[in-house]
This record gives sequence, C-alpha cells and structure tokens, in this order.
Amino acid sequence: MNTLKNKVILAIETSCDETAAAVLEISDSGKFPFVKTLSSVINSQTKLHSKMGGVVPEAAARAHVKNILPVVKKAISAVGGSASGGNDSQLTINDVDYIAVTQGPGLIPSLIVGVEFAKALSLATKKPIIPVNHMLGHLYSPLGKLGNKEIEKLFPMIALIVSGGHTLLVLMTNAYKYKVIGQTVDDAAGEAFDKVAKMLKLAYPGGPEVAKLSSKGDPRHFQFPRPMMNNKNYDFSFSGLKTAVLYRLRDFPKTKPADICASFEESVVDVLVTKAFRAVKEFKAKSISLSGGVSANQALRKALTEESKNNNIEFLPSPLSLSGDNAEMIGLAAAFMITKGYKPKSYKTIKADSNLEL
Ligand code: KG4
Ligand code: ZN
Repeated sequence: MNTLKNKVILAIETSCDETAAAVLEISDSGKFPFVKTLSSVINSQTKLHSKMGGVVPEAAARAHVKNILPVVKKAISAVGGSASGGNDSQLTINDVDYIAVTQGPGLIPSLIVGVEFAKALSLATKKPIIPVNHMLGHLYSPLGKLGNKEIEKLFPMIALIVSGGHTLLVLMTNAYKYKVIGQTVDDAAGEAFDKVAKMLKLAYPGGPEVAKLSSKGDPRHFQFPRPMMNNKNYDFSFSGLKTAVLYRLRDFPKTKPADICASFEESVVDVLVTKAFRAVKEFKAKSISLSGGVSANQALRKALTEESKNNNIEFLPSPLSLSGDNAEMIGLAAAFMITKGYKPKSYKTIKADSNLEL
C-alpha cells in the first residue's frame, strides 16, 4: 500500500540508446514541485553500438524491448522500507500515481518501445499517463532540486541545451513559460563532437573521448572557424566546423590528435558561450542554465562559469548525473507539468512522435 503522503511518478525514457526508469516523489510545495528522487536506473547500450561506431536504431529498439521490463522492475523495487513510509514494505506498481514517458523527439523505433510499454502498463493498472517532451526533461534538469524561493529569483533565464541531437537556446520568462529562440540549422554540437571523434578513430561515444584528449592539447594550434557566431540570430551551425577539421586532418596528417581536439572544442565552446551571453544581455537574464549530454564537458562548464561571474548572473549547470539521457529528468519535467495543472491523458490518445518540438 502507498503510505507516501505525496504523489509518486514512475518515469520511463527510451528515446535513443538508454533504457531508463526512475521513481520520484513530488510534494506540491507551492508554485513549484518539491521533488525527491527515490530511484533511478539507466541501462546504457554503449557496448552494443560501439561496434558500429554509432546508434543503430533497430538494434537499439530490440535492446529496449529486452531491457524495459527489468529496468522498470528494478527502479520500483529499489524503493523500499523507509522511503515508502517507514515500514518494511516495498513500493509496488500500485503505489504509483502517474506514469511519465518520453514521447519524443528521438529515434522512432526506440520511442515506440517506451511509449507502448507505458500504455500497456496504464491499461493494466489504470494509472494515468503523462507524455513528456525529452527536451523538457533536459530543460528542467538543472532546476529539479531547487526550492520555491530559489527558483523565483532565476527569471528571465537563458537555457542552453546541448545534446547529441539538439542544440537549443531557450528563453524562460518563468518556470512554466519558455520559448526556443535559437537552434542548430544542421548538426547538433554533440553530433559534431561524435563526428570529429570518428575522424580521429576514437572510441564510441566520441564526445567524452574528444574532451579527454582536448585537456592535453593546445587550443590555439588551429584557428578553426566560429560558424554563425557573429550572426544576429541565435541559431547555430556545426557542420562547416566538422568539415574544417576534416580538411586540416587531410592537409596536416601529422598533427597531434590532442591539438585538433582542443582547437575544435575551443571553437564549439566559443560559439556556444558567445551566443548564449548575447541572449543573456538582450533579454536581461538573471541566470543561465546548461543541460544535455554535452553539458558534461568541463571546458564548456568552465567558460560558462567565468562568463556568468563577469556578468554577475547565476550559472546553473545540470548535475552530472542528469546530463546524459536518464528517466529522472523525465519525471522532473512531469512533476512541473503536474504542478502547473496538466491533466493526464488516456493511453488511447498517446503516440510516439520523433519530431516533437519544444
Ligand atoms: O543528451 P544526450 O545523452 O543524448 C541526446 O539526447 O542526444 O547527449 C549525448 C551527446 C553525445 O553526442 C555525446 O558525445 C555528448 O553528448 N557528450 C559530450 C561529453 N559527454 C557526452 N560531448 C562533449 N564533451 C563531453 N564531455
Ligand atoms: Zn537527450
């Protein structure tokens, strides 16, 4: 029996190559939810896709099918004893109030597994479903553990979301009102990291490998282009930068990979930070947040920390545990949706949407 006073969310994420589930407890502590994470399980398919050097959608979907039930079971059974009310009883599916699931964007074969699993669970248990935009999960991941008073002070906020599939600049005028003001016109920042890693024959996934090498290289070795950095809009482009790296590698094959990585990373960081802070100034933002897989990048975090100090604004990086894909952030976004008054939908109306926009 659910002895928790508060509402319990079971969150499921399968948009790409992580099968993830989490259990969160929310108390409605005013305008914003107060969220406690009771469990979070991530089953990563890195090993499976590393042989191919990238995510193979059908293989990803098959792995999700195999893993989703054990992952969800593990997330639920990890919540026991004191967390479920001070006695020895284990949390069960009956104690869950909402099933939150990533609806999109992402790879459609992967998304379908999570969405259809959530729908079947909803049909069997009569628990309502909350379909969540994956990018909303990234957007809320830096805000999850803040109190009401702290959250109030952050707006307007500029949110920089950098992942393998997206590069977004979002203006948040309050915790519930957001607008995308810029995005990539071609490759996402993470994608560029991964492609440069491939050119250098580094291990998969490439982003962290490029970052590791960068720390040992000279960022001034090559002056790579800063695509669209001085454009008036807030859009990004990383495809030309990737090509510039390819040509330098062709023309200077003896260059140390660390120097290539460091010069490339500096260009990406420079563009992201310059554009984000132009938005900070234009919209008189009081804070800047950073999330998505690339937010684990230390050079990017350092540059944003410094620039935030210079501009006297707050910098909110996503906790490292929430930077890559996970279900906890999907539960967090659902908690904000519920507190705002979102009415959960019947499982019959929900469909995975690979191009879902924020
Ligand atoms: O958010 P995420 O886990 O998945 C998507 O929604 O796309 O982001 C994954 C991306 C990959 O491109 C990965 O190479 C990149 O994040 N990444 C990094 C670092 N860690 C992960 N890129 C640069 N530096 C890192 N330390
Ligand atoms: Zn993501």
